[in-house]
Amino acid sequence: MAKILVTGAAGFIGFHLSNRLLARGDTVVGLDNLNDYYDVRLKEARLARLEAHPGFRFVRMELSDRQGIESVFAEGGFDRVVHLAAQAGVRYSITHPHAYVESNLVGFVNILEGCRHGGVKHLVFASSSSVYGASTRMPFSIHDNVDHPVSLYAATKKANELMAHTYAHLYRLPCTGLRFFTVYGPWGRPDMAMFLFTRAILEGRPIDVYNYGKMRRDFTYVDDIVEGIIRVADNIARPNPDWTGDAPDPGTSSAPYRNYNIGNNNPVELLHLIEVIEDALGKKAEKILLPLQPGDVPATYADVDDLVRDVGFKPATSIEEGVGRFVAWYREYYGC
Ligand SMILES: NC(=O)c1ccc[n+]([C@@H]2O[C@H](COP(=O)([O-])OP(=O)(O)OC[C@H]3O[C@@H](n4cnc5c(N)ncnc54)[C@H](O)[C@@H]3O)[C@@H](O)[C@H]2O)c1
Repeated sequence: MAKILVTGAAGFIGFHLSNRLLARGDTVVGLDNLNDYYDVRLKEARLARLEAHPGFRFVRMELSDRQGIESVFAEGGFDRVVHLAAQAGVRYSITHPHAYVESNLVGFVNILEGCRHGGVKHLVFASSSSVYGASTRMPFSIHDNVDHPVSLYAATKKANELMAHTYAHLYRLPCTGLRFFTVYGPWGRPDMAMFLFTRAILEGRPIDVYNYGKMRRDFTYVDDIVEGIIRVADNIARPNPDWTGDAPDPGTSSAPYRNYNIGNNNPVELLHLIEVIEDALGKKAEKILLPLQPGDVPATYADVDDLVRDVGFKPATSIEEGVGRFVAWYREYYGC
């Protein structure tokens, strides 16, 4: 049994993670500012379910509130921190760059400082497949260079990895960065393609299909993401004894710092995803084919060898199974 701070607990992944931690007997403090980047009622509904559990306590707070975050850590006594709260979304970062600086950079320093002074034994934080940016070498490996982000969102996630590495080096704070690949499932995010497509098809509206449907994404079911987070959080980051500055491996370090990809290792073309959703809904989509959007990458594909080797887990939920569960949740939740 551990006491764990989960930031972004009212968010999609934070909600599922908190549920799993509570179910295994951990105590969870969930932090979130319940911002209106997407439908706040969905966040409140997730939160209401978590608050029904006696092992859960909610703190409504803004990550960039330095004193507030200091007090959360001063009172916390957290064994581990899973930091998921962030301004998410690639496209929104084109129009709202400052939101990413506040939440993902200023907020991240506050979390690092809290962990450092609060004696936290392991900080696990959400990075993203988007850090691979302009890289086209597939599958994406944590041992590859990722110095060419193509959106500010990706740049802030890469910056988080660098900032955490510094704290691991200077203060021996064990840190692990997790690069999630397009996560989907029940209680998912209304700004993401699967949700937008499902809603539009059910309402008889056309869907915008970028890169003419040729986009490939390593869609990863949320339960697989949560399993990966929990296994990694329980396996505290240690220095890699083979690491050398003469040939610096980007994925590990002489400091207690690690990166992992968590992805399905099985990319799916957008047009196929749409067929799977159509099958699950029993209704055809009307597609508007459009070019690639600024900031988007045409393909993602996760190499998960390090995850499998270190924690013995490989995501395996098929897109058909996962979409079936998402659509079933959507229809029940929205009564349609
Ligand atoms: N869902 C994906 O496909 C995906 C892929 C790669 C990485 N990620 C990362 O995983 C993490 C969780 O993503 P998610 O899909 O659950 O997103 P989400 O938006 O559903 O959850 C994030 C939560 O953090 C909260 N939050 C945002 N800014 C905050 C701030 N300044 N202060 C306090 N709370 C704040 C939001 O209110 C939200 O509830 C994020 O860091 C995201 O960047 C997600």
